[in-house]
Amino acid sequence: MRIIRAKDYADASRKTANIISAQVLLKPDCVLGLATGSSPIGTYQQLIRWYEKGDLDFSQVRTVNLDEYVGLGADNEQSYIHFMRENFFDHINIDPRNTHLPNGLEPDARHQCAHYDSVIHSLGGVDLQLLGIGHNGHIGFNEPAEEFVKGTHCVELTQNTIDANARFFENEDQVPRKAYTMGILDILQAKRVVMIVTGEGKAQILKDAFWGPVTPKVPASILQLHPDFTLVADEAALSVAKDLL
Ligand code: GLP
Repeated sequence: MRIIRAKDYADASRKTANIISAQVLLKPDCVLGLATGSSPIGTYQQLIRWYEKGDLDFSQVRTVNLDEYVGLGADNEQSYIHFMRENFFDHINIDPRNTHLPNGLEPDARHQCAHYDSVIHSLGGVDLQLLGIGHNGHIGFNEPAEEFVKGTHCVELTQNTIDANARFFENEDQVPRKAYTMGILDILQAKRVVMIVTGEGKAQILKDAFWGPVTPKVPASILQLHPDFTLVADEAALSVAKDLL
């Protein structure tokens, strides 16, 4: 595990964007695993700026996103497909046919999950997976559990996650209770994993995840075992773990 220390959110975003940018330059047709949430927004904004300056070309890049709410489609502003278009895809020269997310409107969970794993497989796997972390240690929507789930699956969101994500909806009742998410093995099979974590609110879970035991009760902890895992974290997020660095 490699730790890149950043001053604040803007600095962490630039550093994370630098890593992604290097990946795109080195392999123009790479497969990027992408994430939603507030953590990666600054990273996407930086990548968009470099694209606008002519420094980056996404024309051959392929993407797979981690997750999607069950029941939400592109016309719903809270869907992750909508988030990705608004915050990234609509501002760069990526071919929409090369972007992939689980289909939240597919009611047959088994079919959708098997299909999504076959999409990842058909792309040849993920070169670089970008991650955030939930307040309870979730990655994608792999919630704390008794065991790690390997492939794409349908999860019941925990109350903690529903509460954390309610800020994006008009009220808590509108937060979907289920989501499709890549599994832990899908994430671990990415050749490189980069996680961006900022803010004091994530400081305790960051310490638990990367300076505590590897356990499905803190799903992100499994990344301790990944051979090419980079954590980009700001001072506030590292404040609880600082004596262990
Ligand atoms: C959601 C997403 C995760 C993300 C998490 C943290 O639950 N499914 O992929 O990492 O939120 O979000 P934020 O970055 O807004 O704290």
